[in-house]
Amino acid sequence: MACGLRIISLLLLSISIDALPTYHLNQSCPYQSQCDPSINWQHIRRLESYVRRDVDPCVDFYAYACGNWRRIHSEGGTATTISEAQINQRFEDLFLRLLQDPLAQEHGYPMQQKLLTHYQSCTALTSPNLRRYLQLLPPLPPLNASHWMELVSILGRYGYHDHFVQIEVRHHNISQHMIFIQPHNHNQNLDLTREIYDALPHNGIGFAQLKEMFSVLESHLNRLAKPNITDDSFHNLTLEQIRRTVPELDWLGALKRQLNRSSVNADHSFQVDELSAIRQVILYLNRQDRRLLNLYSLARFLSHLLQLPHNPLESLSSALMSSKSLSIACIRHMRRTLYLPMIYAYERVYYAQQRPSDERVIHSVFTELKDQLVQTLDQNNFNLDRGLVKALQTKVLGMRLNVGNVPRNVTEDFFWATDRNWKVGHDFHENHLNSLLYYYSLTAELEGNPDATEKALWYSFNNHSPDLTDNIDATPYFYCLGNIIIIPYSYAQLPFYHSELWPAMLYGDLANTLGHEMLHAFDTDLVDYDVQGNMRDYSEQLQQQPLYVEAVKCLNDSSVVLNERTSDVSGSRLAFRTYMKDTQSWQSNGRYYFLQFSHFFCGDEGDRYHDMGSTRLNYALSQMPEFAAYFHCARGTPMNSAEQCQFW
Ligand SMILES: *[C@@H]1O[C@H](CO)[C@@H](O)[C@H](O)[C@H]1NC(C)=O
Ligand SMILES: *[C@@H]1O[C@H](CO)[C@@H](O)[C@H](O)[C@H]1NC(C)=O
Ligand SMILES: *[C@@H]1O[C@H](CO)[C@@H](O)[C@H](O)[C@H]1NC(C)=O
Ligand SMILES: *[C@@H]1O[C@H](CO)[C@@H](O)[C@H](O)[C@H]1NC(C)=O
Ligand SMILES: *[C@@H]1O[C@H](CO)[C@@H](O)[C@H](O)[C@H]1NC(C)=O
Ligand SMILES: *[C@@H]1O[C@H](CO)[C@@H](O)[C@H](O)[C@H]1NC(C)=O
Ligand SMILES: *[C@@H]1O[C@H](CO)[C@@H](O)[C@H](O)[C@H]1NC(C)=O
Ligand SMILES: *[C@@H]1O[C@H](CO)[C@@H](O)[C@H](O)[C@H]1NC(C)=O
Ligand SMILES: [Zn+2]
Repeated sequence: MACGLRIISLLLLSISIDALPTYHLNQSCPYQSQCDPSINWQHIRRLESYVRRDVDPCVDFYAYACGNWRRIHSEGGTATTISEAQINQRFEDLFLRLLQDPLAQEHGYPMQQKLLTHYQSCTALTSPNLRRYLQLLPPLPPLNASHWMELVSILGRYGYHDHFVQIEVRHHNISQHMIFIQPHNHNQNLDLTREIYDALPHNGIGFAQLKEMFSVLESHLNRLAKPNITDDSFHNLTLEQIRRTVPELDWLGALKRQLNRSSVNADHSFQVDELSAIRQVILYLNRQDRRLLNLYSLARFLSHLLQLPHNPLESLSSALMSSKSLSIACIRHMRRTLYLPMIYAYERVYYAQQRPSDERVIHSVFTELKDQLVQTLDQNNFNLDRGLVKALQTKVLGMRLNVGNVPRNVTEDFFWATDRNWKVGHDFHENHLNSLLYYYSLTAELEGNPDATEKALWYSFNNHSPDLTDNIDATPYFYCLGNIIIIPYSYAQLPFYHSELWPAMLYGDLANTLGHEMLHAFDTDLVDYDVQGNMRDYSEQLQQQPLYVEAVKCLNDSSVVLNERTSDVSGSRLAFRTYMKDTQSWQSNGRYYFLQFSHFFCGDEGDRYHDMGSTRLNYALSQMPEFAAYFHCARGTPMNSAEQCQFW
């Protein structure tokens, strides 16, 4: 009988949109004064257009909900990639409009002139000129005579720190950066290309010969300094301690040069990995030919610049490019290397008018989810120590959300100050180096800044670094060091979200996405970070609870990415509990709640960190009895047969 009912509703669906089972659809408008029905109906039509009615939702819900995706989007990709492309397009529209209209008011906004200059120098590129990168460095000491660390610390100003001794300023917790020191990275060797060789001041050493010399150097370094794999923890040491243990390097000089400081106190603390391995590297390098070491550093630097995500030079050299694709490549490059100026421009020009309603709606749903999660933790299903429950609840309550990932509570002066600290010049290579110099000197300053109020502004968002590889500004993510969920602009629009969506569709994605990200705070990798982003021993405590160990085992299947699976399962249960308070409401709203949830996964083929969309969606729904009940999936059908695993 249950099955019969389902068939009837499918028949109805195939007739016309007016016959959709929507008569009881809740059309109220949570958190807004009104929700435009046309936005909602249009969105419903869109969701329905992807549905393949000849597929049984109880057999494969992904194939049902996303069955027509590939036919409609034959170019590939997902709703996320389409959404990201829209954001890039809006940047291009803005820049082209401003270049044509010298009187447009946006010219007067902070940083806008510099963005345009950078953009123009990028779109004017015709060929890479690696030698130019080197010419633009500050005057270098003579390569054959200067100590290797002098050059390494100059390159460090541009954020480069991959070889010999690595000194890097990194985010440490919710309110602090720290300086990390590590030995030579033996996992990453130089690939000396002809292009890089030609740019080096090699004084007649042949290509093959230089390549050989570099590779001998690398093999010696690798033999010396195998860091302990078992011990990946950093030690907290002061400058004085470092100098005492490794007197063979001018630490103070290197730090002053790289961080642009006039002094560093002897009691300043650092995070140091394997000081004894570092010392071995230094002793070895101090005996080698200076010229060779310095040439190697320059080559590594060039290779690093070319490999920075979205460096348009990479695409220039690999393929013929249309001016349109170069323009978009430049925009993606700028969104990476000039993160703050670019989000400011987008905010001011496009997003500001939408922000108040988005903030109201998104923060309200976030608060509901937090309350629900705190209650769930209170039930203490894993039988944890009360102190641990409290700590985890504190982490939830302290969790922050940033829509658009913008600095909070800042005035326009903040952005004018950025404008002053960032220089633009005459060509792409110069502008690229300037953008790096701007970002990394800012980070170095932050590390040494004692002013908590000023620092708080910089920790209210995640100031993405130019070397961030992942496509992180396209989907929401949980950032453990700041205990913050970042909602990028590309998510804050349809088809994922709109402030005027009716409840089923508003919660269908937003609550599931926020739930997923919140549960990353409790996944098997990130649970250890506390409310302020400090590493604790929570995993160790959890491992002592048989119920917890059992729950992880139930979800852990060697073929999937465990910490995504746990977030999918627990996140969607959290969202469901938060939204679907009574059965009456899910009877009439379930269809669009589940279709909206599915939409994010359509076309998703997975990546290093995520399984395929079909696997993720079907697994998460098969772990939710309410889904099977709604679609009347008989026991034993694929969507209603999984062993039910408990987790958070
Ligand atoms: C409709 O949804 C709103 C917001 O989720 C809820 O407060 C209200 O009770 C729902 N109405 C019905 C009739 O279920
Ligand atoms: C370094 O090179 C310069 C010329 O390029 C030369 O005059 C000088 O003697 C060299 N120094 C050493 C230490 O080899
Ligand atoms: C951040 O880390 C530093 C160094 O470990 C520590 O002193 C500080 O208390 C931490 N900040 C917070 C807010 O926990
Ligand atoms: C490092 O040690 C110093 C004292 O030696 C202490 O003041 C500081 O809080 C410690 N920092 C961390 C990160 O533990
Ligand atoms: C380095 O510091 C000096 C003096 O504080 C300052 O004038 C200069 O702009 C800084 N350089 C960079 C690249 O930030
Ligand atoms: C590896 O760890 C051991 C024991 O902690 C230590 O003695 C050794 O020096 C470490 N090796 C290096 C290269 O630091
Ligand atoms: C911004 O300022 C307001 C009012 O001073 C304050 O309530 C709010 O917490 C601040 N927000 C952030 C993210 O600092
Ligand atoms: C999950 O299972 C794999 C083997 O299938 C194992 O290596 C891993 O440690 C397990 N993860 C956790 C958190 O238990
Ligand atoms: Zn995830």
